[in-house]
Amino acid sequence: MTMSKVINFAAGPAKLPPTVLAKAQAELLDYEGCGMSVMELSHRGKEFTKIIKDAEADIRELMAIPDNYSILFLQGGATTNFAALPLNLAGPEDTVDYMITGSWSKKAAEEATKYVKNVNKVLPKPANGFTEIPDKSEWSLSPDAKYVYYCDNETVHGVEFSTVPETNGVPLIADMSSNFLSRPVDVTKFAVIYGGAQKNIGPAGMTIVIIRNDLLGNAQAITPTMLDYSVMAKNGSMYNTPPCFAIYMAGLVFRYLIDNGGLAAYSKKSDAKSGALYRAIDGSDGFYRAPVEEKSRSRMNIPFRLSKEELEPVFLEEAAKKGMVQLKGHRSVGGIRASIYNAITEEEVSTLIDFMDEFKTTHA
Ligand SMILES: Cc1ncc(COP(=O)(O)O)c(C=O)c1O
Repeated sequence: MTMSKVINFAAGPAKLPPTVLAKAQAELLDYEGCGMSVMELSHRGKEFTKIIKDAEADIRELMAIPDNYSILFLQGGATTNFAALPLNLAGPEDTVDYMITGSWSKKAAEEATKYVKNVNKVLPKPANGFTEIPDKSEWSLSPDAKYVYYCDNETVHGVEFSTVPETNGVPLIADMSSNFLSRPVDVTKFAVIYGGAQKNIGPAGMTIVIIRNDLLGNAQAITPTMLDYSVMAKNGSMYNTPPCFAIYMAGLVFRYLIDNGGLAAYSKKSDAKSGALYRAIDGSDGFYRAPVEEKSRSRMNIPFRLSKEELEPVFLEEAAKKGMVQLKGHRSVGGIRASIYNAITEEEVSTLIDFMDEFKTTHA
């Protein structure tokens, strides 16, 4: 189904599946015959109770999340959890490990220093900016860390882990904001998986935290009630009014992904889409250049430069004229970035590649 003439390559908020938007539109004024919009429903009423329970059951099915993990639907964005994670999982005098591979994990580590005394940086300082994940031989994990934190996919720099880091039994926390639901993951390898919804899940306004239950209940005394995961888990994410509409939209996306082959299918699509785009960049005789080292390249956010950097604004302008929008690189790094989450189709990526070939022919 196509409803729009643009292809939205935004890093987030990002494109949602048109089928999901159409269903939300059809149900907007009168949800399942109850005479009200989802936005108007009581969060304690029977309709919304079913919406949140179905959403939880569906993400549990999609990601094969075992019963000993709680799934929390929270507000405050991923950024709020930069504080909530150390507050819930470490004491003020503890040591925690952070793998800094880009701007998001860097921010998370900075925030943790407010709540935990020893924030150890596992990786050496990057020599060429954030363009690679250093080899395991260069990691310095602390033996006594309460947890190891990493960002599975760095949205700004386009750096993604291809395997789950080995922490020798130390609880592992993953920020999956920008690659949530893009491939099957073995949830049992993680203490916490979390992320903002606005990239690969649904609208902004909701953050998902998947946490192993034995880690609940040890929050620091200063932890605000709203940031205490055990309070949220005990109350089924409804200690206060939850982000109802965002939860409903995410639920529609979960169901849509299940109906369309689940995460294995989307993983294949992501490999095909990102593979084609990187091949186009690498095969451009240097006209385009992807700065990230091959083994650390993201399948979701693909930053690239033009050899003639002065042509980048022209590239963006001409792409926009052809309906390809939000291709500008993050303001901190410049250049171009194509974000190709689940809702972006292989055809849409082909359209971008065709445009890149054409642009190269005209401007080489
Ligand atoms: C990987 C990653 N982590 C964290 C964040 C922060 O998310 P939020 O804006 O929901 O706080 C972002 C936002 O783009 C992100 O891409």
